[in-house]
Amino acid sequence: MAKSASPTQIRLNKYIAECGLTSRRKADEWIDSGKVKLNGKTVYELGVRVNPKKDKVEINGKVLKAKPQNQVYIAFNKPTHVMTTLSDPEGRPTVKDYFPQLKVRLFPVGRLDWDTEGLLLMTNDGDFAQSVIHPSQEIPKTYMAKLDGQPSEAQLEKLRRGVSIPGGKVKALFVERVKKSSDKYDWVRISVAEGKNRQVRRMFEKIGFDVKKLRRVAIGALPLGALPKGSHAYITPQGLAKVFELPKWMKDPTKKRLDTRKQKKKSAKKKNVQKKTSSPRRKKSPY
Ligand code: URA
Repeated sequence: MAKSASPTQIRLNKYIAECGLTSRRKADEWIDSGKVKLNGKTVYELGVRVNPKKDKVEINGKVLKAKPQNQVYIAFNKPTHVMTTLSDPEGRPTVKDYFPQLKVRLFPVGRLDWDTEGLLLMTNDGDFAQSVIHPSQEIPKTYMAKLDGQPSEAQLEKLRRGVSIPGGKVKALFVERVKKSSDKYDWVRISVAEGKNRQVRRMFEKIGFDVKKLRRVAIGALPLGALPKGSHAYITPQGLAKVFELPKWMKDPTKKRLDTRKQKKKSAKKKNVQKKTSSPRRKKSPY
């Protein structure tokens, strides 16, 4: 097979991703580890190009279907004590258990820890997954973290400037205290782009706090919203576009929360006006 670029040929990793099996990066790992055969021969060359109409690609002995599937994008509210994998050798619950009737093969976009809950995207579009996960895209993933104490502004500033954790230096694109759950604990909203293992927990450990609860509340500007735990919603093209936008708290963080009491009064007033002038309206889904 000729290796020069031709309109009928695409890179093997892209083809695998377009067939909805995984991301391009993961496909490269499969190629590198000898799981992929091209026309009967194991292929290790990452840049190799294929003609999906003519070439036979096998992954772990299974022939890849030539026709890419319809692309599906789902927002899922992952509960705690669920693995972000499609199977688990130890038999623990996985995200797959929540999609028993779906015909398409979905995979999770990135991962949340066993003890983290919140927004997890599921898709069969490997390229989309790659563009959300890859740190170079700088898509902020936002979390609400309940800490075992109250960080000072100086401690939060350390996170903004960057801290070293296993895997490298990471920083908060945005971080602020949001509410007091009691005198002892603080909830903190934090947005990060890197996606290192247990990143948020380790960042707070670095400034002396344990994370007692962790919930992902947004990816880009797409919020978790009111999606109940363990349920999912299909994402519209408009919802999908939000993934690549900045959330409102990162657009102008200085404007907000300077006078929350004033803000509360204002929104109570607005609600009263709405109550008087309009019939009950259903809240618009963010998806
Ligand atoms: N950071 C963590 O520590 N855990 C997650 O699940 C996600 C981000």
